Amino acid sequence: MISDARLLKALRLEPVDRPPIWFMRQAGRYLPEYRALRAQAGSFRTLLQTPTLAAQVSLQPVSRFGLDAVILFSDILTIPDAMGLDFQVQEGSGVRLGRPVRTAEDAARLPCLDMSRDLDYVLETIERLRGTLAGQVPLIGFAGSPWTLACYMIEGCGGDFPTARAMVYREPALLEGLLEHLTQAVSEYLCAQARAGADCLMVFDTWGGLLTAADYRRFSLAFLHRIVATLRPTGKPVILFTLGIGDWLPQLMDTGAAAVGLDWRCDPRRSRFLAQEKRVALQGNLDPFCLFAPPDRVSQLTKALLQSFGSEPGYIFNLGHGIRPDTPLEAVSAMVAAVQHFGSS
Ligand code: CP3
Repeated sequence: MISDARLLKALRLEPVDRPPIWFMRQAGRYLPEYRALRAQAGSFRTLLQTPTLAAQVSLQPVSRFGLDAVILFSDILTIPDAMGLDFQVQEGSGVRLGRPVRTAEDAARLPCLDMSRDLDYVLETIERLRGTLAGQVPLIGFAGSPWTLACYMIEGCGGDFPTARAMVYREPALLEGLLEHLTQAVSEYLCAQARAGADCLMVFDTWGGLLTAADYRRFSLAFLHRIVATLRPTGKPVILFTLGIGDWLPQLMDTGAAAVGLDWRCDPRRSRFLAQEKRVALQGNLDPFCLFAPPDRVSQLTKALLQSFGSEPGYIFNLGHGIRPDTPLEAVSAMVAAVQHFGSS
C-alpha cells in the first residue's frame, strides 16, 4: 500500500524504520543519463513537454539510487508559460520569459488557465508515472508559490529580481492582483495534479526570503495559507519550502502544511523543537555544497545531520536546496547510502 511508504508515514508523523530520502532537483544535469536524454530530446522544453520523456527522467534518480520518492520532472515556470509568457532555458544563462508582466495592461491580459487544456502534458506525465509506479513509490507533484512565480513573471529572468522587488513598494495593488490570479492557478494546478495521481504536493517559495517580515506575510505567506486550505479536500499532504525562511519558520508551520522544508542555514535542533510543538514534519537540510567533500566526509556529514534531527517521527531527509549540476556522483551515492543504512549499524 502506498500509504505505508516511508515518505507518507513521515508526513503523518508516524514511526518509520529509517528516514525517507529524496532530494530537490534529483532528476537533473548531475546525472549522465539525464544529460543523454536531454541531448536526445534536443531541448529542456521538449523534455518537459513530452510525457513519455518527462516520465522517464522522473524515474532516473529513483532507479539509480533507490530513493523513497519520485518527484515529477517538470518546472515551476510551466504556469507562466501556459499563460503565454514563453518560458525558455538557455544553456549557461538560466531562464527567460519572453513577455514579462510590468503594467496593469500586461496583467489584465493574463488568461485564466484550463488545466486539462493548457497543462495537459504535465497531467499526462503524472498519469503515466502513476501507472509505472503502481503504488510502489510515492509521487510528489509541485508548483511554485505565487510570489516566486511573480518574481520571474515581472522580471522576465532570474537574478535578484529588482523590478519585482520595487513593485512591492511602487505598485502593491498591481502586485496583489497578480498574486491573486496566480493563487487561483497554482491551487487549481495542484488539485489537478492530485487528481491525476500525485501522492503529495510541494510548493516552492524559492524567493520568499527576499521580502521583509511584514511583506513576506502580506505577499507570500497569506497566499500559501490559502493554497493549503484549498488543497485540504484532496487529502494529499502538502510540503512548503521557503528558501531563507529565517525567523518566520513558526509562521510557515502554522499554515496547515504537513511538512516544511528547511534550507541549509536552519538549525536542525531548533527547527525540530518548533516542529514538535506545532505537530508538523520537517524536510531537509544538508548543504548542497557538502557534496563536494570526499565521499567519506559526505557520509559523516550526513550521519551527523541525521543525528541532529533525532529519531522522533516526522523527518524527511533532503538537501537544503537543489543539487548542483556539477556534483560528483560518488558523493551522492555516499549520502544516499548513509541515510539508507542509518540506524542499522
Ligand atoms: O526536483 C526535480 O528533480 C524535479 C524537477 C524540477 C526542475 N525545476 C527541473 C529543472 C523542479 C522541482 C524545479 C523547480 C524550480 N524551477 C524552482 C524551485 C526550486 C528551486 O530550485 O528553488 C525554480 C526556482 C525553477 C526555475 C528554474 N528552472 C531555473 C532558475 C532554471 C535554470 C537554472 C538551472 O538550474 O539551470 C530552471 C531549469 C531547470 N528546471 C533545469 C531542471 C533539471 C535545468 C534544465 C537543463 O538545463 O537541463
